[in-house]
Formats: sequence, C-alpha cells, structure tokens
Amino acid sequence: MLLEKLNWRYATKKFDPARPVPQDKIDKIVEAVRLAPTSSGLQPYDLLVITNPDIKAKILPIASGQTQVVDASHILVFAAWDTYTADRINAAFDFVEAERQLTGEALDNWNAYRHRLLNAYVPRDARTNFEHAARQSYIGFGFAIAEAAMLEVDATPMEGFDADALDELLGLRARGLRSVTMLPLGYRQADQDWLVGLKKVRRPKEEFVTVIR
Ligand SMILES: Cc1cc2nc3c(=O)[nH]c(=O)nc-3n(C[C@H](O)[C@H](O)[C@H](O)COP(=O)(O)O)c2cc1C
Repeated sequence: MLLEKLNWRYATKKFDPARPVPQDKIDKIVEAVRLAPTSSGLQPYDLLVITNPDIKAKILPIASGQTQVVDASHILVFAAWDTYTADRINAAFDFVEAERQLTGEALDNWNAYRHRLLNAYVPRDARTNFEHAARQSYIGFGFAIAEAAMLEVDATPMEGFDADALDELLGLRARGLRSVTMLPLGYRQADQDWLVGLKKVRRPKEEFVTVIR
C-alpha cells in the first residue's frame, strides 16, 4: 500500500488553487510528523502550518517564484532549533520524566542520560547543533511526504527558498528557530503540470543497494 502510494506521488509543480486540502487530512499529516522519531526524542524542531494568503504571497519571491507556495492550500514549514541549550534539553527530559512518572533507578538512569547529552551538546557550536536538529526535521519531513501520499494529497518537498528571508518573514530567529524545508500541500492541476505524466526515475536497485552477507 505504501509503495503503491509512493509511486503515485511526485513533486507537484502545479496545484489547483480551487481545491483546498480538508482539515482532517492536514491533521493526519501533522500527526505523522509529531510521531516521527528524533535523536534522543528531543523533537528539536517546530512545524508551522501556513494558510494565510498574504503570507503565502510574500513567500512566493522567497521561493524563487515557485507557484506551488501560493496555489497550495497549506504550506508546512519545518523549522529547526538554532542550537541546543541546557534549558531546551532539560525541558525535553523533564517532560518525559513527568509523562512517564519516572522514579528510583529509572529516574537515575534517565538523569545520567540527560547529563551525557548536556555535556555533549551544550558546549558545541551553534552551527553543528542546528545541523543536527535540522537532520531530525528531515525525518518528520519524510513522514509528512509519505502520509500525504497515503491520503492522496499532493505535496512538493522544497529546499529551493531563501531560508534567511523566510526566517525574517515568519519571525523565526526571535523564536530560536531556523527554517529548513517547506512542504506545500494541495491537489495537482494535472493539465498544467509538466511533471505529472513523466516516468518516475530512480537508480536501479542493483546499483543503489549493496548487500553484505
Ligand atoms: C529536500 C528536497 C528539496 C527539494 N526542493 C524542491 C524545490 O525547491 N522545488 C521543487 O519543485 N522540487 C523540489 N524537490 C523535489 C525533487 O526534485 C523530487 O523529489 C525528485 O526529483 C524526485 O522526484 P519525485 O519526488 O517526483 O519522485 C525537492 C526534494 C527534496 C527531497
């Protein structure tokens, strides 16, 4: 089922501006992102869901005029933490500790893990930390692409935008965030999309996969 939908999906070039994605489908795609795994479970990124037409129009030049950002009904923006701080790591660990009601040895082990992470991440430079956080956001990005396909919602994975300009527009830096990727969501306008009928091209399995027995 998943493979069938992964063959159905493609990086949509033209969305039908008259067909918005229903809220229940957006909710499922967002939930798939929330459920995506992250390193140490820190979930070091936020997800923005943009429907505001004025903001979408302002994103158009930031995304080199790619019309998907105005024709899609929703744009997901994946925005990673700009660095790891002790406060952020502690908040994440405190949350798990409370949710799981950890006590005794389990709590000691959890706190030992917390301190290993604090010692490893907090002294590192912000760029290294941001790039680590950004990698986590790509896992959620992939889950969103797959869940959208499962729901037959079209999507365009996008890195082709000026991240600094998007951060400025959305006020992300003030929130300690930096944009990484965008995912416009909508429905294809097949008669105006040059890509829709073209063969899906992937490297042959024999070349792509190395089996080590
Ligand atoms: C991280 C990433 C960034 C991408 N950026 C863009 C983009 O800015 N604009 C666009 O039209 N397609 C973009 N693509 C789509 C790819 O070109 C496309 O996924 C790839 O050629 C494979 O084709 P398919 O997705 O149609 O199977 C991006 C894809 C990924 C995974």
